[in-house]
Amino acid sequence: MTAAGRDATRVARGDWQTPASLAEAVLARVVAAGLRAPRTVIEPTCGEGTFLVAAAQRFPRARVAGWEIDAGYTRVAQGALARVQRPGESSVHEHDFFTVDWRSELDAALGPILVVGNPPWVTSAGLGVLGSTNLPAKQNARGLRGLDAITGKSNFDVSEWMIVRLLEVLAGRDATLAMLCKSAVARRVVETVDARGLDVTPVGIWGVDAARHFDASVSAVLFVAETRRKKAFARASWPVYTDLRATEPSSSIAIVDGVLVADAARFTRTRHLAGRCEPEWRSGVKHDCARVMELQRAGNAWTNGLGERVDIEQELVHPLLKSSDVANDRAASSRAMIVTQRQLGEDTAALRRRAPRAWKYLSRHRALLDARKSSIYEKQPPFAVFGVGPYSFAPWKVAISGLYKHARFTVVGPHEGRPVVLDDTCYFLAFDDERRARRAASALRSAVASDFLAARIFWDAKRPITKAVLQSLDLAALERAVRR
Ligand SMILES: C[S@@+](CC[C@H](N)C(=O)[O-])C[C@H]1O[C@@H](n2cnc3c(N)ncnc32)[C@H](O)[C@@H]1O
Repeated sequence: MTAAGRDATRVARGDWQTPASLAEAVLARVVAAGLRAPRTVIEPTCGEGTFLVAAAQRFPRARVAGWEIDAGYTRVAQGALARVQRPGESSVHEHDFFTVDWRSELDAALGPILVVGNPPWVTSAGLGVLGSTNLPAKQNARGLRGLDAITGKSNFDVSEWMIVRLLEVLAGRDATLAMLCKSAVARRVVETVDARGLDVTPVGIWGVDAARHFDASVSAVLFVAETRRKKAFARASWPVYTDLRATEPSSSIAIVDGVLVADAARFTRTRHLAGRCEPEWRSGVKHDCARVMELQRAGNAWTNGLGERVDIEQELVHPLLKSSDVANDRAASSRAMIVTQRQLGEDTAALRRRAPRAWKYLSRHRALLDARKSSIYEKQPPFAVFGVGPYSFAPWKVAISGLYKHARFTVVGPHEGRPVVLDDTCYFLAFDDERRARRAASALRSAVASDFLAARIFWDAKRPITKAVLQSLDLAALERAVRR
């Protein structure tokens, strides 16, 4: 196999082998969390067998069994395990997870059972790109294949499917499942377990430093659950710990009112503020053509991203704040945006007469604007933008960046007498007067508002701050609560 072929296989198999020190730390954590010595340890995608070896050493009386799709890894794991266990007490099978009959394997296993490991780090979309089929082989009536058929979703983590499958089969058995996975996968497993009413009891979710252990920039956790029948899941919350050594949870995630919340205690404390924000949170203006539509001040003139001097009617040129400005509380910058419409879908043909220099400038760059990839521009007039409406031109705004991992609200007022526009990575509330904007900002910066947001925002998500979460905070109720 070529080096490129090996890399593609590694990616399709989500292959990131766990270092021995992490496997040992995981087992130490699970034992400290109350695991009783298992009689069977199972590693469903065991790779080179690091978890199998660590488990054989820590639980010398347990039967240890691994499965792995890769023949080379299977041999490595067999050799490694043979060195630490007596023959007959361990087994490593070369097998595809999706063809193993997990129910009969687990029915045959003696309890307590520990299922431990680090399933593949790959999504169905990633597999699609690679043309790989590392997926369950089910089909449904609509002809969807694999994970899409099972989940109805177009993108799905392979590990999520594996963990849920194992929990389904383990439900009711005297077993513990301890798996390394992405934080987002752990959260979706919690949701699925709740939605399907599986007999699963939370143990905890511990943060794992993926950059250090796997050289991967992803938010990772150790997800631990028990499957003995104990209590109804509906009332269960999952303690979340910052790292494997932490003994006190930093928060608890739970399903409340059918929704997964990031901090159950704060959620309950701030429930009375949930509602609908008025005015509505809006996104900034979207144009997808920064080289033409964004300008930089150079002395008394404007230049565009192509290095050209731009001299067009000022009515179309608006001072611009981007995410980095908003996140750092910078109220003005030397940037501007050409905003071609006052509202969505407005015909731009009138610009030819109303703003002939702008029309000429835009026409000269029409090829670049017409080549914008997003399909949203397809049925729109030439030079159209999105996220535009009367609110875009309100003189006062309270803005927040959607890109950053903190909730910082910035008051944005007019710059040189012109309303400032935000780019499409920001959200904002629009106000006609300064006093109203400042009152809203001060309420949004209060401790109770940050509790509300902390309860509902998963900071390790790609875009943690969403319009939906902002919009669910009733500003009037918040202002009343803050005044009291
Ligand atoms: C993230 S690595 C972890 C390996 C091992 N569990 C560890 O912790 O070191 C994922 C492993 O899953 C294996 N794998 C991927 N798809 C599989 C499948 N369908 N069935 C079994 N193993 C699979 C890969 O070859 C790789 O060894």
